[in-house]
Amino acid sequence: MSDFLGKDILSTKGMGKVDLEKIMETADEFAVFANKEKSSDLLKGKVLASLFYEPSTRTRLSFETAMQRLGGSVITVSGAEGSSLAKGETLRDTARVIENFADVMAVRHSLQGSADDMAEVAGIPVINAGDGHGEHPTQALLDIYTINKERGRVDGLTIAMVGDLKYGRTVHSLSYLLAHFGVKLILVSPDQLKMPAEITDFLAEKKIEFEVTENMDDAVKHAHVCYMTRVQQERFDDPAEYERFKNFYVLTKEIIEKYNSKMTIMHPLPRIGEISLNVDDLDGAAYFRQVKNGVAVRMALLAMVLGKA
Ligand code: NCD
Repeated sequence: MSDFLGKDILSTKGMGKVDLEKIMETADEFAVFANKEKSSDLLKGKVLASLFYEPSTRTRLSFETAMQRLGGSVITVSGAEGSSLAKGETLRDTARVIENFADVMAVRHSLQGSADDMAEVAGIPVINAGDGHGEHPTQALLDIYTINKERGRVDGLTIAMVGDLKYGRTVHSLSYLLAHFGVKLILVSPDQLKMPAEITDFLAEKKIEFEVTENMDDAVKHAHVCYMTRVQQERFDDPAEYERFKNFYVLTKEIIEKYNSKMTIMHPLPRIGEISLNVDDLDGAAYFRQVKNGVAVRMALLAMVLGKA
């Protein structure tokens, strides 16, 4: 799949190492545009349909910024209420309509498999911007890009993923990508929110060393990178369950300074309290740099699927 032209980006599971490296190299080339140092009209005349049926700030604006800073334009749906989905239109019909308007679409929806469904019928590339508790491949790509930038490598690192590993789609996609590297993973969550077996089975099959624990402090002692996640309130049927877990882990400056002051701290954001505000001043706090990297990575993906990179 080294030629990305016309391809969908739905999952990281089947993404090969060569493709991953190609995306990382291309993102590096686009960093000058993402950083607003230079402008470009590479995607002039191309239209991105940005279809966000679930809340989003970063991902939607990051895709739209990426498209516009490369000279392309954007049509947008934000929230199901304002769209024909509210009238009962199926996602498949929506996809067949949108392909007449746009050259590529980025879609976020609460249903797992929604982007796959649309891609099956759409004649233009579909990029999964988050399908329920399924995957979030573009976030995982920017996470790998960020780890590499922050630490200078991915191989040889111990990476802790902390929080809601069951419903957190970013850690699902990230795990599939990390399986290409010689990493050690520490999967930290309450038992009720642990990483789905489908993913731990995959890691085992790929001979990735991983440890499952409830103890964040122990993980912090050993991790080069700590990837925090939000407890995904919108996926809980029982509000009391959410209340029970929402403050299960709070990473503070004190914990980091006590156990591992050199650690890199990441988060896909939004944070709801999992990372104390006083962590922001630490050199290792990479979550806002992560956002910036997202624009370069999405520029690369848009250019690649449109055959311009
Ligand atoms: C994540 C998501 O939507 O899955 N946010 C994002 O895209 N940066 C994480 C989250 O909402 O917790």
